[in-house]
Amino acid sequence: MSTHRIAWLPGDGIGREVMAAARVVLDGLELDAEYVPGDIGWELWCRESDAFPPRTVDLLKGVDAALFGAITSKPARAAEAELDPALRSQGLTYRSPIVRMRQLFDLYVCLRPCRAYPGNALNHREGIDLVIFRENTEDLYAGVEFSPVPPELAKVLEALAEPFRAFSHLAGDEYAVSCKVNTKKGSERIARAAFEFARSRGRRKVTIVHKANVVRATDGLFLEEAKKVAADYPDVACDDANVDAIGMWLLKNPLGYDVLVAPNLYGDIVSDLCAQMVGGLGFGCSGNIGEKLAVFEPTHGSAPRHAGKNKANPIATILAAKMMLDWLGETEKAARLDAAVAAVVAEGRVRTYDMGGDATTMDMAKAVAEKLPVAAGA
Ligand SMILES: NC(=O)c1ccc[n+]([C@@H]2O[C@H](COP(=O)([O-])OP(=O)(O)OC[C@H]3O[C@@H](n4cnc5c(N)ncnc54)[C@H](O)[C@@H]3O)[C@@H](O)[C@H]2O)c1
Repeated sequence: MSTHRIAWLPGDGIGREVMAAARVVLDGLELDAEYVPGDIGWELWCRESDAFPPRTVDLLKGVDAALFGAITSKPARAAEAELDPALRSQGLTYRSPIVRMRQLFDLYVCLRPCRAYPGNALNHREGIDLVIFRENTEDLYAGVEFSPVPPELAKVLEALAEPFRAFSHLAGDEYAVSCKVNTKKGSERIARAAFEFARSRGRRKVTIVHKANVVRATDGLFLEEAKKVAADYPDVACDDANVDAIGMWLLKNPLGYDVLVAPNLYGDIVSDLCAQMVGGLGFGCSGNIGEKLAVFEPTHGSAPRHAGKNKANPIATILAAKMMLDWLGETEKAARLDAAVAAVVAEGRVRTYDMGGDATTMDMAKAVAEKLPVAAGA
């Protein structure tokens, strides 16, 4: 029996290609793992009306970790239009499988390290080493949304929220409402995860990202809970910043920041910005981590216009596999993988299109696999 049981979820679009590439590197490391394939993605929605079917949910209940490629998600009308004709007009609604997975398995930490590999021509600046902790289960991603807005809801909002009166003359189909839901528990535990990480890794500072000056209820709660947690970590410096300002500050002074913690939506946006500063989406990796399960993935999506062309940069997925190795306790293999990526980037000979070269997805995977340092004692 293998040491690790890993759900293997390529998804669709470039997800399939970057996962095949990551497998080349994992095989090069001779990881003792059983990779169990799982169905997820847009084609499942079109064919079966469920992009994250129960059989994949069951699979995730019996694995140590999962590696996930990418999936396509489309707005409601496009989703209905692409559904098998036999399944249309049944009131079926598409919900992003990755958002569902995060909520179903309570994968409340979205961990996104963004480190500039030395010599990467795409680096905004050398030396950038940022780690984003994004709350992963609530906020504007809670899925509490109304379009059209039912009259019962409009009535309640009109009675309870004075500012809503500016909209109350509108018909239900003339506007939409998405609820931002942030809890004390959700805010507290993501902040604690960020401070624990900072303390255990000897990081300098945690920056709390919010917009509490305008979004007073939810972001106010997030900031308050995160500050309470900060008080338990007097050895870790803490500051906070509005999300709009942090975009400007990160670009201007990226070396002045270290660990950032944010509610779901701001964390998503800030982590794409940080990924761009260290090479773009081809380098952005991510871990969705809960108490029992962790699912690792590249930050990017399915990039449909590049799908099937063997040109996407697989480094983001290879780095997601590195995060998975760390999480599984395979730290020596993770370090070897990291060293191999660093060597390929520094050498600059094999570069995918986004790095200014013409190497294929598989060329990059093979280059990384070839640079894997020999295992200690081998
Ligand atoms: N977790 C996920 O699976 C996830 C995340 C984001 C978006 N999506 C979905 O993916 C689809 C496409 O979304 P999008 O175009 O906004 O974002 P995307 O990340 O798929 O691609 C945006 C652009 O970034 C570049 N890019 C992305 N990954 C790359 C890689 N590995 N190598 C080189 N260049 C890369 C490409 O130029 C691409 O056109 C949508 O349906 C969206 O909903 C899925």
